[in-house]
Amino acid sequence: MRLAVNTGGGDAPGLNAVIRAVVLTALSRGWETFGIRRGYRGLLTGEGVVPLGREDVRGITHLGGTILGTTNRGNPFRWVSEGADGAEIEEDRSDELIAAFRERGLDALIAIGGEGSLHIAHRLWKKGLPIVGVPKTIDNDVSGTEQTFGFDSAVSTATEAIDKLHSTAESHDRVMVIELMGRNTGWIALHSGISATADVILIPELPFDIEKVCDKVRLRESRGRRFSLVVVAEGAVPKGGTQVVREDRKAGSAERLGGIGNQVAQAIAERTGKETRCLVLGHLQRGGTPTTFDRLLALRLGAAAVRAVAHRDFGCMVGLSAQSIVRLPLDDVVSRIKRVPLESDTVCTARELEISLGD
Ligand code: F6P
Repeated sequence: MRLAVNTGGGDAPGLNAVIRAVVLTALSRGWETFGIRRGYRGLLTGEGVVPLGREDVRGITHLGGTILGTTNRGNPFRWVSEGADGAEIEEDRSDELIAAFRERGLDALIAIGGEGSLHIAHRLWKKGLPIVGVPKTIDNDVSGTEQTFGFDSAVSTATEAIDKLHSTAESHDRVMVIELMGRNTGWIALHSGISATADVILIPELPFDIEKVCDKVRLRESRGRRFSLVVVAEGAVPKGGTQVVREDRKAGSAERLGGIGNQVAQAIAERTGKETRCLVLGHLQRGGTPTTFDRLLALRLGAAAVRAVAHRDFGCMVGLSAQSIVRLPLDDVVSRIKRVPLESDTVCTARELEISLGD
């Protein structure tokens, strides 16, 4: 068996742990593993496919990033390049990719990716490529798994950041707004916001009313708490409004969210007269060493993906369910993203702790 592995989309702490588990589990079966560089690009450009042996994956479990590199601009079904006149050309290179895979004598692919990359994996599997998916993302928005690796590490980073904002907010009697990642879901904002005792948490699943946010700031003021911490998920939306997107989108890449934190901060300052500052935590949430939880989950998922290949159970994803690793069809995974359920006990807990959700 000549097994291939790749990492696609935004990086997340734990990717290297999956790669290590894949390589060592494959070796224990006498199989070879090859890493495709930067998503699928290694098969379509000169970026290459590299053999991965025991030495290549030594000492990488705790390292952030991915030794294979990654990209969110390498969709083989919508490949964007520049024509002679400088204009963008979009083409479907999926057949070429499958041919390159076969020419190299590769037998199966373990595709580690988030919602977008798993979608690509699903389409390639439908076209005959033997694929097993492994869910990764700090956003925790992949269906079919209770948690993705990378999420716990991102929440830890965000919690620590909010903790640090607390003291400066209190010293200056300010409102501090922190914008967190998560794309169209509020998992990171909700979990870190509750853990770091934020006063307001705004998530995309629950459109907010800025007056309700200001009411919370005023209520705290009336109780002698002259500072407030407001956590805003990058995908949060005001009631009747739309998400804030960045203008600097690159060809072939997904729309980038961001900017709502500053808007919320400005609105709070105008309406309450409070001095307000905004911090966009950004890519710090994607970096650093994975937490113990993420390392273990990543290692278990990597080993389970190789077991799925051994059982020739292709077109599936390995995921976490009730503390066990399970397999489920990619068909079920790619049809929807996993949002924060508004009736969950976590949301109830936030409300019971008197955290405003802006609704
Ligand atoms: O999906 C992970 C993520 O970090 C999102 O939370 C965020 O919206 C996006 O990727 C940022 O992407 P980029 O690295 O292209 O700025």
